[in-house]
Amino acid sequence: MRRFSLRSPLTFSLASLNFLENPAPILEKMREAGAIIPLKIPMIGRIWVTTTYAATEDVMKGRTSFFLEGQSVGKSKSAQMPWWIPKGMRLIAANMLNKDEPDHMRLRKLVDQAFRRQGIREMRPTIERKALLVLNKAPPAEFDLIKHFARTLPLETISDLLGVSAAHRDAFAHEAGKISDVSSITKILGTLVALKRLISLVRQLISEARRNPQPGLLSEMLASRDGGDQLSEDELIAMVFLLLFAGMETTTNLIAGSVWALHQAPEQKAWLLADIENRRETAVEELSRHVSSVTGSKPRYVGHDMQLHGQNLSRGERIMALPIAANYDPSRFDNPAVLKLDRFPNPHLSYAAGIHFCLGLQLARIEVQAALEVIYREFPNLTCSAPKYLKRPGSRTVKEMWIKTN
Ligand code: HEM
Repeated sequence: MRRFSLRSPLTFSLASLNFLENPAPILEKMREAGAIIPLKIPMIGRIWVTTTYAATEDVMKGRTSFFLEGQSVGKSKSAQMPWWIPKGMRLIAANMLNKDEPDHMRLRKLVDQAFRRQGIREMRPTIERKALLVLNKAPPAEFDLIKHFARTLPLETISDLLGVSAAHRDAFAHEAGKISDVSSITKILGTLVALKRLISLVRQLISEARRNPQPGLLSEMLASRDGGDQLSEDELIAMVFLLLFAGMETTTNLIAGSVWALHQAPEQKAWLLADIENRRETAVEELSRHVSSVTGSKPRYVGHDMQLHGQNLSRGERIMALPIAANYDPSRFDNPAVLKLDRFPNPHLSYAAGIHFCLGLQLARIEVQAALEVIYREFPNLTCSAPKYLKRPGSRTVKEMWIKTN
């Protein structure tokens, strides 16, 4: 049976404000249509998406059936390279999230150690201190949480982890901030200029780290590269970009989304604040599920003709797993649209599953826990206005969210 065809995509939009502001009713309609449905997504094109927990998990875990690299299915391009990235800048996409095995594992092994649970736990006091420092610099009374806190904390944290010197952080923040919006040709041009500057900044960082090694992942990766590992200079640059981009905006959006979700559920917020030290871990799991800041995975190629959850898929077609669809599937979560901070167990797929499961999930959890602790300790009576989302598929990217501190 072939229920749908990519030639006739359904009209649901993952980038519409309706979806970004209130995804549950649209996800329900998508699920009613089928577990795997065809959409036409801006900047991505015609693609299958998953709408249930089971289908999402199958695509995420199907390492022999779904591929990121085009050559695995006889294509020249990777499944998700945006058409607007010029050839000269494509090196930044040579990262593990765009690779199949064995290259993926080779790259992941180089940084795995740095992201181990224990090591990341030890960063908690530093992250908490930094969170307070950043928040104390915000304007009094009323400010944009994204601009003055939620964007800075993840950038500072990854910069610490990499060992980026203070001298370069402002430049990073400045250029990186321009990269997220690719919703029009003019914005794409701005993004390309920023990308070019960032690539040369990273090259500069690498040559400084080579001349004068500092504690941090960058010097460690350089040492292993120069010590004979096959990590090329381009792969090293790509790794830095991946860590910056996979780890910054995702966390920013989860911090903002969490504050908004708690604002809308005051009894849940009160429950959390009554014993935040003991409740923060379960609470942040539920916030990760409920906010689902990453709505879709990178597109994958279908490796061979197959029937999956009642839908025929053909080799070479593309498919995206939607963590948000899994997280809102009522067959897996009771009342998924409701925020229940003590939800347990909570097998959400916000950080993916399978070989590409999020490398930074421990770091993200601790950052968000620290962010919430500091925000509510400093401003227990804060109120906030609704987040303003960028109309982009794949993530719930908050461009602005104002809070009043008393
Ligand atoms: C709320 C925060 C975060 C969320 C929701 C999130 C979510 C995800 C998801 C869904 C994937 C899989 C994507 C796919 O398969 O297409 C992923 C992969 C990845 N994430 Fe995260 N992430 C977060 C924070 C971070 C942080 C803080 C870092 C590191 C500093 C990070 C580094 C990575 C890397 C390196 C990968 C690729 C892993 C691989 O290909 O093996 N993430 N993340």
